[in-house]
Amino acid sequence: MSVRRITVLISGGGSNLQALIDARDQGRLKVEISLVISSRADAFGLERARKAGIPTSILQQDEFPRRADYDRKLAELIAVGSPDLVVLAGFMRIVGPEVLQRFAGKLINLHPSLLPLHRGTNTYERAIKSGDTEHGASVHFVTADLDAGPVISQVRIPIDAQDQPATLAARLSPREHQLLVATVELFSHCPVECTHGVITLDGETLKQPLVLDPNGFF
Ligand code: GRF
Repeated sequence: MSVRRITVLISGGGSNLQALIDARDQGRLKVEISLVISSRADAFGLERARKAGIPTSILQQDEFPRRADYDRKLAELIAVGSPDLVVLAGFMRIVGPEVLQRFAGKLINLHPSLLPLHRGTNTYERAIKSGDTEHGASVHFVTADLDAGPVISQVRIPIDAQDQPATLAARLSPREHQLLVATVELFSHCPVECTHGVITLDGETLKQPLVLDPNGFF
């Protein structure tokens, strides 16, 4: 089934959420953003969602001493939006087993590196320190292992000799927005499935991650 309704999980600025909202408003993305869930009450992304008329929920982990309770509540909240796809866009929490089971094959995450390189945090700094010549972002299916699920799509940018983490992040950001929009658009056009770690697009096995072109398409 192609995706019609998405729920977006955020923790911060929500610039990627804004890219999805803008693409929806421009008619490129024919999906309903049914709910935005933030792990922080002060996330600016919540303002963006409210301005766009999207329902919001806040779920702060410190209100749940037991991880399993947080996970259960998160699963309940996600279900409220009845999403076909759950998009983690800067969501700085590890998704637990209940969410993974309940929304198996429907959870995707945007990560700022060329996975499998640089899982986790500080990816810009680590890419520069490692002497990488390229950096980028990946969208992958979420599994129990952090940033280790099958990769659907990527965008690549060169690392310049004078790059600092902040300059690299600033250059990647608009391309990351395009990557997320193009990837959600893909899900809205054709069935993208992940079974036993193998991704299929419209029934065809995806052998390599899709790579975003300079115009923001695959
Ligand atoms: C993005 O860089 C994304 O790759 C990472 O967190 C950042 C979120 O930015 N996972 P924003 O909140 O969408 O502005």
